[in-house]
Amino acid sequence: MNCIREINEGVYWVGGNDRRLSLFENIFPIPRGISYNAYVVLDEKTVLLDTVDWSIGSLFLDNLEAVLQGRKLDYIIVNHMEPDHCACLKEVIARYPDVIIVGNTKTFTMIDQFFKIEINKLIVKENDELNTGKHTFTFMMAPLVHWPEVMVTYDHYDKTLYSADAFGTFGALDGSLFNDEVEFDREWLDDARRYYANIVGKYGPQVQSLLKKASNLEIKMICPLHGPVWRSNLDYIISKYDCWSKYEPEQQGVVLIYGSIYGNTENVIEIIASKLKQAGINQVKMYDVSKTHVSNLISEVFHYSHLVLAAPTYNSGIFPPMENLLSDMVALSVKKRTVALLENGTWGALCAKQMRARLETMKDIEIIGEPITIKSSLRDDQLVDLDCLVSSLIESLK
Ligand code: FEO
Repeated sequence: MNCIREINEGVYWVGGNDRRLSLFENIFPIPRGISYNAYVVLDEKTVLLDTVDWSIGSLFLDNLEAVLQGRKLDYIIVNHMEPDHCACLKEVIARYPDVIIVGNTKTFTMIDQFFKIEINKLIVKENDELNTGKHTFTFMMAPLVHWPEVMVTYDHYDKTLYSADAFGTFGALDGSLFNDEVEFDREWLDDARRYYANIVGKYGPQVQSLLKKASNLEIKMICPLHGPVWRSNLDYIISKYDCWSKYEPEQQGVVLIYGSIYGNTENVIEIIASKLKQAGINQVKMYDVSKTHVSNLISEVFHYSHLVLAAPTYNSGIFPPMENLLSDMVALSVKKRTVALLENGTWGALCAKQMRARLETMKDIEIIGEPITIKSSLRDDQLVDLDCLVSSLIESLK
């Protein structure tokens, strides 16, 4: 049985949702599931833009058959070759053997690596066009947003940008398809930020290049490969991408991330959080690094301007979950943040220096104040150090 939706005259969403998968890319928890979007344009020629993950392949193939209504499929535009979008390519080609695959040279290298099949190719490069009747598609390369072969496709007739992973988000669609059918800010923004930060976050300069290309286009609709289709308020999501890809904090606020083996480091962070709140700082978030998936922490790091990182020393090094977070921050090219450090050690407090060394490999990180060292638990006379740290954070937040 099919489940399709017309998004413009003769243009259909033929994707679907996976609510069974626990970990996207076998890494990222997706408690709200995920959508895999694919689109069909019916013109003098018929065009499929990307396929879907194999998990929803059966539904997708029914959708495609229902939309085509017996017509042959002329083109498949492959904007992205990651298997969450290309897994059904081989099966679609088997069903429509005359179809012409449209991609760039890197696309075809990957098709060969994944499928080893003979195909009809149309190799395109930057700004090449394909006319299918009313519709003319222009192809623009978007390397590393999120893989090197990624391209986006602009349809001049509908003024639609098929944006591949860009502007996508975690989360299954619940019958809604368009951004104006959901409360994006309340229901989707956290997942969109987590998706961006963890999937595309490393590639800020490449996202900036894509935004620059997009700024030269008149865009009425953005069709990403995950999440809602944007047909209104496009500036909202474009400005979020602009902010995130420049590594600018989205909001002024303090995220306190702590590791605590027996609760003593946690206690210190509780005191700092309380003092910040009492001083009128509303945006204060507190996370246990051991209990919070690192993708959520990375999302908050992209969200807020200030971080307090607190951890015990472990095997003479950084508490492993905190080390994991710092490694991810380095890998994702986090920059432009203000950070305060706190360490704990019963007999050898050694981790603040090592956390600082990690932070110093990132660009434009300001470390405020001297790290606070706790020996087992906070001494009364160290409350003044916490007051000092809180004052520095407040001053820096102004
Ligand atoms: Fe949704 Fe990079 O794949």
